[in-house]
Amino acid sequence: MRLNKYIASAGICSRRKADVLTASGDVKLNGLVVREMGVDVKDGDVVEVYNRVITSAGKLICIVLNKPKGFITSVGDNLGRPTVMDLVGDIPERIFPVGRLDADTSGLLLMTNDGALSQMLMHPKHKIYKTYRVKIGGVLSDERIARLRKGVDIGGFVTSPAEVKVLRQSERITTVEISIFEGKNRQVRKMFAAVGNSVVELKRVAVGDILLGRLKEGHYRKLTRQELLHLRDILE
Ligand code: URA
Repeated sequence: MRLNKYIASAGICSRRKADVLTASGDVKLNGLVVREMGVDVKDGDVVEVYNRVITSAGKLICIVLNKPKGFITSVGDNLGRPTVMDLVGDIPERIFPVGRLDADTSGLLLMTNDGALSQMLMHPKHKIYKTYRVKIGGVLSDERIARLRKGVDIGGFVTSPAEVKVLRQSERITTVEISIFEGKNRQVRKMFAAVGNSVVELKRVAVGDILLGRLKEGHYRKLTRQELLHLRDILE
């Protein structure tokens, strides 16, 4: 099978984009950078995109898990804490989490067996917005909303503009939806801390157009074809 077809059918991107990645030296065949377009991939060949082995065509697994609080986003834990792998034990393929959610954060976690897809999804240059529903202590003033929207210093890093919408407001607790495309460690918690509000509850409800919806906590579902195409579009 042609290299660009192999990459495209593994769900990474279109054939055209595969050619671009190849020309720019981001594709390896059996450990060596390959820049020629017409190369054939044979059984047993190892193809890497962005230094990650991609799985053979047609075997792409990508799921949405509703991670409950208390589970760590890791493939194993030497302290014996529950991990998200405990929730997907019936999937035979070796899948792993795309990025991280804190142990005390719940909600949408993508998991895949495709390293290159995972890398691309996490790269901020693709500007994939992640949306969080956040319960914070106290009231979120207009001035604080403006600061979050513009970008705040979370300790040596100024965040990019965020989308912020207040869903419910009371003296004690305010519920906010915030969308960001970066993925710094505990970024949402740090952003609210930077403007002076503590986070009481944090749940991720969307990644791009992929919605958590009514998926029950601890349950997962496969991405629909539509959702896979959406991801591919973003990564073009
Ligand atoms: N921001 C956080 O603070 N925690 C998460 O788990 C994800 C984003």
